[in-house]
Amino acid sequence: MCGIVGYIGNNNCVPILIEGLKRLEYRGYDSAGIGIIDKNVSIIEKYKGKVSILEDNVYKKKLSATLGIGHTRWATHGEPNKINAHPHQNNDKDLFLIHNGIIENYQILKELLAKKGYKFYSQTDTEVLANLIDFHFKKTKDLFEGVRVALNEVEGAYGIAVISKKEPDKIVVAKKGSPLVIGVGRNENYIASDVNALIAHTSRVVYLEDDEVALITKDGFKARTIANHKLDKTIEEITVSADEITKGGYQHYMLKEIMEQPESVRNSLRGRLLEKEGISKLGGLQGFEDRIAQSDRIIISACGTSWHAALVGEYMIEEYAGIPVEVEYASEFRYRNPIINPNDTIFFISQSGETADTLAALKEAKKKGALVLGICNVVGSSIARASEAGVYIHAGPEIGVASTKAFTAQLSVLALITILLARKRRMSHMDGRKLVKEMDLIPDKIAKILTLNKKIEKLAEKFVNATNFLYLGRGYNFPVALEGALKLKEISYIHAEGYPAAEMKHGPIALIDENMPVVFIAPLDAVHEKVLSNIQEVKARKGKVIVIANELDKKVDKMADHVIKIPSTCPLLAPILNVIPLQLLAYHIAVKKGLNVDQPRNLAKSVTVE
Ligand code: G6P
Repeated sequence: MCGIVGYIGNNNCVPILIEGLKRLEYRGYDSAGIGIIDKNVSIIEKYKGKVSILEDNVYKKKLSATLGIGHTRWATHGEPNKINAHPHQNNDKDLFLIHNGIIENYQILKELLAKKGYKFYSQTDTEVLANLIDFHFKKTKDLFEGVRVALNEVEGAYGIAVISKKEPDKIVVAKKGSPLVIGVGRNENYIASDVNALIAHTSRVVYLEDDEVALITKDGFKARTIANHKLDKTIEEITVSADEITKGGYQHYMLKEIMEQPESVRNSLRGRLLEKEGISKLGGLQGFEDRIAQSDRIIISACGTSWHAALVGEYMIEEYAGIPVEVEYASEFRYRNPIINPNDTIFFISQSGETADTLAALKEAKKKGALVLGICNVVGSSIARASEAGVYIHAGPEIGVASTKAFTAQLSVLALITILLARKRRMSHMDGRKLVKEMDLIPDKIAKILTLNKKIEKLAEKFVNATNFLYLGRGYNFPVALEGALKLKEISYIHAEGYPAAEMKHGPIALIDENMPVVFIAPLDAVHEKVLSNIQEVKARKGKVIVIANELDKKVDKMADHVIKIPSTCPLLAPILNVIPLQLLAYHIAVKKGLNVDQPRNLAKSVTVE
């Protein structure tokens, strides 16, 4: 989604803003712009397209200023073009505003402002907000107050930053629903929608909470609530390093993140497995373990890839811990008036910790009195902070829009939670030890699968021109089929569907002919024979069969057109391994089609609007 950066200090802000925007480009990228103010000069530069277009133009013009804000946009109101790009200005063109989110009552505000003589030149809700702030700024004669008072009239979600030529020594920021972080430096300060834009400059940050507004100067900051209560914000240290967000020699972030999985999964497990006792230890859930284990029901809610992880979690927890689990899309959960009892536990899974639907669902669940827990990657993110307790997956920064290493780390954490609950309920010490031992082997098994990269790249060549794909799996591997299909459609724009293999005969089988590639996830497990029968059904209709199978599986070789053999593990952990060839297959098909896999069209890494 949109990215926000800002700088105030003694240095030229332009390269700082451009660099920050590049680090945020993965969030949204249909247009980009900066607004800068220095003494009597105020300039806006904005362009349709990537940050590099903005960069070329501002460097050519040799712009310089000590105060500025920048934005990458992912269109919500109005098509992506130069006019709709941010920053937006008031009619007097002396106030600049960048905004992430949606102002829901912007039509009403627009009409009210139009009656007062304001004119509008773009289709955006942001321009309405710029003029609303202008209106109150003129009345209060104070930028901070103008913003604060204006926001009392606004409904919707926002992370905003405002600067004005009339008060050129400050940035005013505010947050409701969309993330906003202040980066604290020495005689200079920064703002951003994501710590990734700050880490090159400072590790000291202040997270704004909803309904908070802050005034930032080069020497400090102060914050109040929108209702005007004074706040004492604490400065926190972040641990992500600048190295962690580079491509590290890979052609794309996505490939780097796929290749990092032995390490990222190891990090998600580190210090959390006690082999002798056959249990797992999750510091973030300390004090809540018994309550979770005694829950009448567990609900897991999430979006996208995280929702697929939740589905695997359902199979894991029901089978091993014997607690009923329901999985629900956060976007449905939030508007459905779901039945939630005080003895329910609800996990919210989110890589970014900022997904608007997931955050809203969490708030709804909290209101209803359930125990609300987060499973997040980004430390200090909104969902992590709004949860009563939770577990970080420790996958490290994920920049590629298509989620890969976060998925396997989410599955690892769900397996840890499963062991924790199962051992408190019905899993024996011996079984616990076996499972813990097996989990320990997973990173090395992933490393082994990654050695198949070249083979999978070759296989990808054969399917570059496919227009459809089916992904089929059963049990734990049905969600893996969904995830494999999602990876392919996200980055290659090939239509792909995931199905439980046995459901194929109830519809999708009609699609199968010699042009339909069908990917089967068929490890040696309890339903293996059944999946082999499904493979036969596809072959009988001339479909092209690709199978993800285990090394010891001999039968499958005769049936499939292409087999990718990977190590085996216990069924509960198999999705962590089985998804890896599917990530690589999607990646190589997209690269061979000449597509930008890190920034696929229309998608955003972190969807902070509804
Ligand atoms: C977006 C991303 C997906 C991601 C989903 C949920 O749609 O493009 O890759 O799975 O949001 O994101 P979250 O950060 O909540 O896991």
